[in-house]
Amino acid sequence: MLVDGNQMRPIWFDTDLKIAKVIDQRMLPHQLIEADLNTVDDVIEAIQEMFVRGAPLIGATGAFGVYTAVLQDQGCNDDRFVAECDRLKAARPTAVNLAWGVDRVLGVCLAQSDRTARLAAALAEALAIVEEEAENCRLIGEYGVSLIREISQKKGGKPVNILTHCNAGWLACIEYGTATAPMYTAFDTGIDIHVWVDETRPLNQGSRLTAWELGKHGIAHTVVTDNAGGHLMQHGMVDLVIVGTDRTTWTGDVANKIGTYLKALAAKDNDIPFYVALPSSTIDWEMDNGLTSIPIEERDPDEISYVQGLDDTGKLVKVLVPPQSSPCANHAFDVTPSRLVTGLITERGMCSASQEGILTLFPERR
Ligand code: MRU
Repeated sequence: MLVDGNQMRPIWFDTDLKIAKVIDQRMLPHQLIEADLNTVDDVIEAIQEMFVRGAPLIGATGAFGVYTAVLQDQGCNDDRFVAECDRLKAARPTAVNLAWGVDRVLGVCLAQSDRTARLAAALAEALAIVEEEAENCRLIGEYGVSLIREISQKKGGKPVNILTHCNAGWLACIEYGTATAPMYTAFDTGIDIHVWVDETRPLNQGSRLTAWELGKHGIAHTVVTDNAGGHLMQHGMVDLVIVGTDRTTWTGDVANKIGTYLKALAAKDNDIPFYVALPSSTIDWEMDNGLTSIPIEERDPDEISYVQGLDDTGKLVKVLVPPQSSPCANHAFDVTPSRLVTGLITERGMCSASQEGILTLFPERR
């Protein structure tokens, strides 16, 4: 996407250094810093510490992690290679894209016997994943825009108010984003939209990242506290909710950033459509009960106790909010049951959040 006139992606391959590079998202929106992925440990750290985050990007980073393992000569002994890939897959538990990306590159590598061929195969597959995910997001935008256009027409061209949670934008997904793709397509085709951006505590992916992305594209938006959505919905200030997901079961249960479930409940109570946008790499084809099966990551409580921002002198600082001695619990995701989801927006079109809906779009999985 364009940032101040420069074409940017959150991950890219440096052809001179022959390594993948990423934006270190921890410093955004105040500092735009790059990080090199030289080793498998670098890749694991980037995923765990959330230099990179968001399900499709975690998948693409894991894919480059396999390339990095081969580069470090860990791809020659199959047992060691598979063990390195297992380490990559364990970096974060909730987004299914990570295992999907790692396994896909591992699979093409194991079909080759020598290091040179494995290296070439790993790079080609990781690059293919990046391009496919970008195209998937573009298609999600093409399909999802119809929802926004219809509301705009009903409102006689008045702004369509869309609420989103976390960051399911291009920083999480290579290009366009998932939840944000229909917003970009709507805006670029002249539909008047306004986005309510949930700040998304504890790490503020909404106020730091989604707000930054939308602002750079000129899309009208307002950051609200995570608790504001219900009030906005009760007062007719939200026309549509679109969120992303880290893992959606093939039966339509949706894991996403903590707080998504409460938005879905409020949307249901107020008769507001609640859509989830996702590429097929985020569908878990094995789990059928999201609530009991999807692993929910618990992260460092310090992410709750401390908030990061600029001080009056423009320095990036972290400050402690609760009493130092108060325990904090940091559940990073929740599961929204399929019954609360109006529909899914995928690269193959829209469907109901159900086995039947998903299998109609992906009949090869029947
Ligand atoms: O902890 P994060 O920032 O990786 O969580 C990300 C989300 O919850 C996103 O909404 C999800 O990955 C969808 S990204 C298209």
